[in-house]
This record gives sequence, C-alpha cells and structure tokens, in this order.
Amino acid sequence: MKNIPFCDYKKLYLNHRENYLKIIDEVASNGGFIMQQAKKDFEEELSEFTGCNHAIGVGNCTDGLEIIWQSIGLRPGDEIICSSHTFIATASSIVMAGGVPKPVDIGDDNLICTEAISDAINSRTVGIMPTQLNGRICDMDTIINLANKHKLFVVEDAAQALGARYKGKHAGTFGIAGAISFYPAKVMGCFGDGGALITNNYDIFNRSHQLHDQGRDVNGELKSWGRNSRLDNIQAAILSYQLQKYPAVIQRRREIASYYHKRLSPLNELKLPPPPLENADNFDIFQNYEFMADKRDELKKHLEENGIKTLIQWNGKGIHQWESLGFTVKLPKVEAFFKKCIMIPIWDYLKDEEISYIADKVISFYRK
Ligand SMILES: Cc1ncc(COP(=O)(O)O)c(C=O)c1O
Repeated sequence: MKNIPFCDYKKLYLNHRENYLKIIDEVASNGGFIMQQAKKDFEEELSEFTGCNHAIGVGNCTDGLEIIWQSIGLRPGDEIICSSHTFIATASSIVMAGGVPKPVDIGDDNLICTEAISDAINSRTVGIMPTQLNGRICDMDTIINLANKHKLFVVEDAAQALGARYKGKHAGTFGIAGAISFYPAKVMGCFGDGGALITNNYDIFNRSHQLHDQGRDVNGELKSWGRNSRLDNIQAAILSYQLQKYPAVIQRRREIASYYHKRLSPLNELKLPPPPLENADNFDIFQNYEFMADKRDELKKHLEENGIKTLIQWNGKGIHQWESLGFTVKLPKVEAFFKKCIMIPIWDYLKDEEISYIADKVISFYRK
C-alpha cells in the first residue's frame, strides 16, 4: 500500500534544498530583507510573465484583494457580486474594505454563473469579483460585457490561477486589477504567506503601492493612512527562482489532469473537470483536481484506507452557507456541489506509478 499525502509540504523545500539555501544565504548576506532589489526584481518578472503593466508583492492574496478595493474606494452599502463557490477571503476582502459581498450561484462549470450575476445587479452594485477557481478562468467575455454595460469594476480573485489563460489573456488582467496567492499549497507557493496584486491601471498601482507600505510614496512622504503588507525579500527571491521553472510545473499538472481524465471519464458516477486541451479558450493550470462524486464520503474513506489523502475544500461549504457571517440566501447549485465535491492529489512531483495507483483506487471503488 502507498502513502500519498494530499500535499507534501516538506517536498516543496527538500526537492530543491541546495538551491533554496543558496538563495536565502545570498539575500540574507546582502542584508536586503524588506523593500529591496529582490522584491523589485520579482515584481518586474511577474508583470512580464502575466503581461501586465504593474505588480506589487504583498503579504498575502487576501491583503492584495483588500488593498485593491481600498484603492478603488468603497462607500458603505456598495455591493460587490462574487461567487459563493470560493474561499472566504474573496468576501472578507470586500467587507474589510467597507463594502458588502453578494454571493451568487455557480453555473455548470462550477464557476460564477453569469446569469446569476446579471440577475443580482442593482443600483447598489459597484463591482463583480470572479474567482478563477482551481486554476480555470471564468467566462470573462460575458463578465466584462456586463461590467461595461452597468459601469462596474471587475476585480479578479486569481489566488489559484497564476499562469491560467482565457483566449490567451492571463488571469488577473481582465478587470481593473487582480490578486494572486503564493500560499505554500498554491501551484507556485513560497515558504510562508505571500501574494501579489497586478494591474494595468497606473492610479490603482500608485494608490495600492502606498497602501501596502504605510501610506508612503516612493520618496517616503506620507500620502494617506496605510498598512504594512510587503512581500519580504527572501520570499520574493524564492518566488523568482520558482517562476523560472513554473511553465514546466504547469505542464506536469496538465499531464496528470489528462491522465486522470483518460482513466476516470468512463465512470458515470463522477463529474470531472474539462481535460486540458491545446487550442481551447481556457488554458487551465490545475491548481486542484476537483470533481463531483456519487457516494463521495464512502469514496473518501476507501481512498484513505488505501493510503491516499483527499480534500473536501473549505469545510464543505460555500461562503453563503456560513450563517455566522449573516448570510441568509439559498444557492442550490453551490449547496449541491459541496455535497459531492472531492479533490485528489495532483502535485507535479507525484510519480507516474502514484497517479496510476490513485486512478486505480478510484476505479476500484465503483467497480468492485
Ligand atoms: C480562492 C482564494 N482566494 C483567496 C485566497 C487567499 O490567499 P492568501 O492565503 O494568500 O491570503 C485563497 C487561498 O487559499 C484562495 O484559494
């Protein structure tokens, strides 16, 4: 029997230990810990990679999203439409910036439903915040058209989607700004908390830059109140190293997703994500391999008994299901999704024999 963790955090470091030690040694020996060259270099590399004019390294993606909304400037009562199928950070960034999140249902792709967005728009709506979940981008043509028609801001929660593309355009670059997470479990994860915001809008960049560094401009002059949320230089240097290898990491994840699709698609008991196709509108990075499964809880138990750890995301609830946060709305598709969803391991360092073992064990559950 194998022992396959859902995510082997130690391997993130140990697989490249020598190189990481050199990087940490170099940054620390230079004494450049905060707001120094390594942060600037990484921000430039990230802008180039995503095809965006500006990037700012921040403490984490939640801060990045909140800083974007603060830069835009929300007034009490301003509503932002978001998916309920997302991490609570999407909604909390709106609340902490002074707005009101309005979670809506998902479509057949399990991402935000564009008809539900359209139905939710009212005189208080100021923005739409799609989550590019599991490394797949939403139907951005429709979302941008709706936003233009109703004069709304689009801010992307691209926490899970660095490198994902839709019609050739990168996640985070469709609206006024977007934020990305480098939490260790992300496809590109650092060794602690880390994030970035990206934007093509100079005013948002300028304002966000001040907000992430105590309200100071580049000359140290205080322009407003602000906070301390700066990506530190050691994390930035680690991320620069990872960005060089990132296309190969995505490629491996896509290979594993193709393999899972080939093996598991004959099972009628599962609803799988679309496989990675060349020349499709969506280029997915497979942050997660998540699907809906009949008898989900028994499948989870069966995999666990065979040494395979799986994950049911976010305690098995959409954000609107957290009554403690004051939500009262019912969203049937999200609720149905969370009764059946499960994630199996898809890390790039998984060996071929491990992914074939995982597929075998899913199949053996349904074809005893
Ligand atoms: C969809 C989504 N949004 C936001 C976040 C928040 O990212 P961070 O932990 O970097 O603040 C995450 C991280 O898990 C996420 O998955």
